[in-house]
Amino acid sequence: MYILGIESSCDETSLSIIKDGTVEVSTVVLSQMDTHAYYGGVVPEIASRMHVENITIVIDEVLKKAGMSMDDIDAIAVTYGPGLIGSLLIGLMAAKTLAFIYNKPLIPVHHIAGHIYANNLVRPLEFPLIALVVSGGHTELVYMKEDYSFEVLGGTLDDAVGEAYDKVARVIGLPYPGGPNVDRLAATGKDTYDLPLPLNDDSYNFSFSGLKSAVINLVHNEKQRGNEIIKENLAASFQNRVTEILTKKTIRALKERGVSNLIVAGGVAANKGLRSSLKQACDKENINLTIPEIKYCTDNGAMIGAAGYYAYAKGLRADLSLNAKATMELK
Ligand code: KG4
Ligand code: ZN
Repeated sequence: MYILGIESSCDETSLSIIKDGTVEVSTVVLSQMDTHAYYGGVVPEIASRMHVENITIVIDEVLKKAGMSMDDIDAIAVTYGPGLIGSLLIGLMAAKTLAFIYNKPLIPVHHIAGHIYANNLVRPLEFPLIALVVSGGHTELVYMKEDYSFEVLGGTLDDAVGEAYDKVARVIGLPYPGGPNVDRLAATGKDTYDLPLPLNDDSYNFSFSGLKSAVINLVHNEKQRGNEIIKENLAASFQNRVTEILTKKTIRALKERGVSNLIVAGGVAANKGLRSSLKQACDKENINLTIPEIKYCTDNGAMIGAAGYYAYAKGLRADLSLNAKATMELK
């Protein structure tokens, strides 16, 4: 079964053709990163306008790259939320138009389900599993007993982890996108700053706004005292706190649920510190860890095409009344 996956929830216009939920036939990603970098973050109005300019080009390109036509496509899967509403609507309109013209089933996909199923492109998911979803908009621990079944164990109470990375980057003077830049800088520094371990409690929830504020206050206080901030050490200290709490709560969830499979998803899954901290903990606890290649961690159509296959198998279908949703629970 060939599924055309469409993703446009933020600043990437991306389409993929995925065979049977596992094989990537072709993918095209048109990123708007350079445009938004000028403003220091994603500007929603500009993002939606650029999706309009890009979407037809990406549709043509993904088919051309695969040597296929719309007649070869069996169904269309699309991200309908959560995300930037204007951005989501462009991908959704494209999906509905293609489904209508070519008479193909339309499959609604939750963006986070997409991130999770990026792992299916590495190797088929093994159940039960715990998914740690870490992105610019989400920080969630999800239990899955079988395909396309999601039980959210906990999530962020305030800032998502990627959002905290991006804000900390700005405070220490690193350009957008902040996450990868903080990650790179952290690798060259030492954990010398006294920052709190955020929401170190018995829940599966996370909170990163206090840690972010601690970084901001520290920078301001040192400035007032006329002291120089050692940026790489501050980046390393921040990153260590983030990875410690994410690793600690994830391992506890695995143990308490008696689960031995962990998958990691979302843009922050690209983080080198997080990858190494999880790998070390999983090796120690005999847990099978899967983290997708970096190109599958950030937003892409391949993950939507992969998730769409399992959503379809579960009977999920949408008609032309499907609307985009800026916020939406994963169920
Ligand atoms: O999943 P994603 O592409 O978009 C959302 O759905 O949010 O994630 C983007 C987020 C941004 O906040 C970006 O700074 C962060 O992921 N990110 C990273 C790294 N690479 C991307 N954060 C920390 N370390 C990285 N290496
Ligand atoms: Zn995402």
